[in-house]
Amino acid sequence: MATLRLFVAIFSIAAFSGFSNNIVEAAYNGITRHYKFDIKMQNVTRLCHTKSIVTVNGEFPGPRIVAREGDRLLIKVVNHVQNNISIHWHGIRQLRSGWADGPAYITQCPIQTGQSYVYNFTIVGQRGTLWWHAHISWLRSTLYGPIIILPKPEIPYPFPHPYKEVPMVFGEWWNADTEAVINQALQTGGGPNVSDAYTINGLPGPLYNCSAKDTFKLKVKPGKTYLLRIVNAALNDELFFSIANHTLTVVDVDAVYVKPFETDIIIITPGQTSNVLLKTKPYYPGARFLMMARPYVTGNGTFDNSTVAGILEYHHHTTPSTSTKKLPLLKPNLPALRDTSFVTNYTNKLRSLNNAKFPANVPKNVDRHFFFTVGLGTNPCPRNQTCQGPTNKTMFSAAINNVSFVMPTKALLQTHFLHQSNGVYTTNFPTSPQNQFNYTGTPPNNTNVMNGTKVVVIPYNTSVELVMQDTSILGTESHPLHLHGFNFFVVGQGFGNFNPINDPAKFNLVDPVERNTVGVPDGGWVAIRFLADNPGVWFMHCHLEVHTSWGLKMAWVVLDGQLPNQKLPPAPTDLPKC
Ligand code: C2O
Repeated sequence: MATLRLFVAIFSIAAFSGFSNNIVEAAYNGITRHYKFDIKMQNVTRLCHTKSIVTVNGEFPGPRIVAREGDRLLIKVVNHVQNNISIHWHGIRQLRSGWADGPAYITQCPIQTGQSYVYNFTIVGQRGTLWWHAHISWLRSTLYGPIIILPKPEIPYPFPHPYKEVPMVFGEWWNADTEAVINQALQTGGGPNVSDAYTINGLPGPLYNCSAKDTFKLKVKPGKTYLLRIVNAALNDELFFSIANHTLTVVDVDAVYVKPFETDIIIITPGQTSNVLLKTKPYYPGARFLMMARPYVTGNGTFDNSTVAGILEYHHHTTPSTSTKKLPLLKPNLPALRDTSFVTNYTNKLRSLNNAKFPANVPKNVDRHFFFTVGLGTNPCPRNQTCQGPTNKTMFSAAINNVSFVMPTKALLQTHFLHQSNGVYTTNFPTSPQNQFNYTGTPPNNTNVMNGTKVVVIPYNTSVELVMQDTSILGTESHPLHLHGFNFFVVGQGFGNFNPINDPAKFNLVDPVERNTVGVPDGGWVAIRFLADNPGVWFMHCHLEVHTSWGLKMAWVVLDGQLPNQKLPPAPTDLPKC
């Protein structure tokens, strides 16, 4: 009896102090959180330019979603605008909830004007920062916001608990209507216009004309640790980011913990997220420092070469009025626009935390090997017209294994589920290039791509290795490839052509970084592995929106498994119709 009482006492101390995480973790089954997204037009002014943009609830950037690991989200999206809409929850695993993933014509038909759809999914085994964005045409230029996933109650971060957490979402501001920009480019075959500014939380900052009042300010206290939840929601630009006089500690990418490392500068591609710790110094009140982001550039296209700045300001109690003006506003040093070696060094530092609580479950055996070339190509100009592509006889296109993906007019997931895929897609997506060539050498004479709606079909639980190889067909370029429905492990990367004999021996199968978006290096390759444990249709594409528009996208169909919990449930009844 005494023994039993002692046992109970120890047990309850453990439960209350939270030192035995397993006990608490088992107790949390998650709650349901409801959100309503009213898609509506809103006038917004930046750079002295007022335009009517598509927003969620009139907010720009959109509202943040806050949830805990294990929670279920019910997000009702009501479309009050003229455009078709769909929303994607970027990086959410969507285990057996592919109907809620969101890419238009892949997992759902878009939500038409006056219609609504409830996205219904549970956050399983993820904590960190992700984000949501429109997944149709270029509407994500204004429709985006962060998803903040807190750990389960009483589960600590594997790093010092921050004093405050601050989302910092990078975006692009366009004076023009981005729908007109991409439609015009697709018609003429030329490259689209570029943005007018980069933004931090929707604000371009003081380095642009007529913009000083639209500056993101982060007010901090000395000697505290802040967790910055960084998202790159820009359409077409990878970004360097740095804060003058401060060092950042990277603790997480794409909602997966990494081995912490210190850096003055981070690089983040569109689609990627990263949590970083900012430890403030014992600075005097009112001290101010610029935080800046500007693009990392590869390829030959035109780009927005401007710089967004925000201000890190140490808290003061009295109004500084004159005194602040005297304080020097230090600028951070950012790498040169084309500093690929910085990017390589940085990405080589990213390692999974890989401890007992957060193991890196890297697939050790591979069932299926895939080799995909990614890059730009051309389509001939229609009917002997002249076009604005690389020559006046061609239009820009982009492809994976030379297949430029043609958007279907029905949603792939539904046609797959109902066995009605005939005439919608074919299952012959090439698993390796049909014509082998020196991918990063002298470009071939024929730059034309094939067009088609082709997918790869794999059985449930297939262990996949995929090597993605950049091409030099229209010049080498870095491509941030994003896979829906899975995280993958980045087991290797390199420059030049992938060597199937020598390179796999160098793969890191111990603690490779786990993420959902990875940059295929400029003129190089990257190898990833993932376990296809999620039945459904999963989009994969370059997260540079212009390349997605040109066809640098494809889809994986993962079949149901044998067991009931290995099957995709039927579609919700309110799934939009095409
Ligand atoms: Cu963040 Cu398919 O997208």
